[in-house]
Amino acid sequence: MAVAATRQPLSRTPAEPRARILLADDEVQLARNLRLLLERDGYRVETVSSGDEAIERLAKNSYDLLITDLIMPGTDGAQLMVHVNREYPATPVIVITGYGSMESAVAAIRQGAYDYLTKPFDYEIMKITIEKALERQRLKAELSKYTEQLEEKVLDRTREIEEMQVRLMRFERLAAVGELVSVIAHEVRNPLVAIGGFARRLKKGASDAVETAKLAAIIVEEVDRLEKILKSMLDFAKSSRPTLRPEDPTRLVAKSLVLFEGEIKRAGVELKVEFEPNLPEVMLDGDQIRGVILNLVLNAVQAMPRGGRLTIRTTRSGDGAAIEVEDTGLGITEDKLAHLFDPFFTTKPTGTGLGLAIAQKTIHGHGGRLEVSSQVGRGSLFKIVLPAMAR
Ligand SMILES: Nc1ncnc2c1ncn2[C@@H]1O[C@H](COP(=O)(O)OP(=O)(O)OP(=O)(O)O)[C@@H](O)[C@H]1O
Ligand SMILES: [Mg+2]
Repeated sequence: MAVAATRQPLSRTPAEPRARILLADDEVQLARNLRLLLERDGYRVETVSSGDEAIERLAKNSYDLLITDLIMPGTDGAQLMVHVNREYPATPVIVITGYGSMESAVAAIRQGAYDYLTKPFDYEIMKITIEKALERQRLKAELSKYTEQLEEKVLDRTREIEEMQVRLMRFERLAAVGELVSVIAHEVRNPLVAIGGFARRLKKGASDAVETAKLAAIIVEEVDRLEKILKSMLDFAKSSRPTLRPEDPTRLVAKSLVLFEGEIKRAGVELKVEFEPNLPEVMLDGDQIRGVILNLVLNAVQAMPRGGRLTIRTTRSGDGAAIEVEDTGLGITEDKLAHLFDPFFTTKPTGTGLGLAIAQKTIHGHGGRLEVSSQVGRGSLFKIVLPAMAR
């Protein structure tokens, strides 16, 4: 059924059109017939007879589909299509060509036309082509809507996760601070409670001068303990960067012996020295390493309440050097080994439990390691490993 030859009865355009179509064709009769047929099928159709007119209409109203003739005066169908593709990329275009010009039809498809029909065309085929073009457009719109929604969802989730991470990090930091505060509070509470209790008794008035002196002595003792805790805590918190200088570890240890020889003798402990000659120099902060050795020696002496032997040794360790402090004391049980370097871990009534924590931090500051091995009842070995000097 060729459109030009068809006369169809007029029918009213329904209130809700199936789609709005702009039809551009300079063959007025054909355009009118096609419009009537489409309107009968529920489309709202506007006709124009040139490309320029089509451009004007497109600027004023919005359309779901453009049907255009290729050959028109002024702006022709090809130019109109370029305009539509650029300005209204979501609007599909169906091209109708006269004289069965295959070449121009192919060119139209290349320029982005959805499909083409050659005149004279069958109305039913035109209808199917329109429906297919609109359906494809609808699916494309739906797909891009879904994609947008999906992107939005992904963005929302990403934002949520980022916020959660920030909150978690803040929480973790708070938790770490909280843990430290509770440990410190615990350490400080005992001496404070003692000082408070004895001070109140003093205030009430002690029975005699001897008791007053006793109470005052306990208070002084507890204050000393608090001061010791405070000093160790400050040492621990201080991130004092080591001042590294090349030094022979054997020379350093030999020079430091005077620091603790007295303490070792007093404890009735035998001191043995095993120095490796010609050790390579390593980078170290003399004051800091001396402090670490002193801590290890005091721990060793305290682990030998009934005497024993303390060995201080220097050895090679890879390209670097090591300083060892070994005792024949009580040894350390497995469960305690796991907590040895924790701040405030102590088994001693007057210990702060910061000695080894500070020692480890200092050695790490030197790029080295503090190793321990121990056997219950036989003794312990602490080894300071210092890396070789960079060449
Ligand atoms: N040579 C050792 N032999 C056995 N146990 C040890 C030895 N060195 C350390 N320890 C154990 O490790 C714990 C922690 O030692 P650390 O030096 O950190 O604190 P501390 O000696 O208890 O207190 P502070 O050093 O303040 O006097 C000690 O209480 C002790 O139980
Ligand atoms: Mg100690």
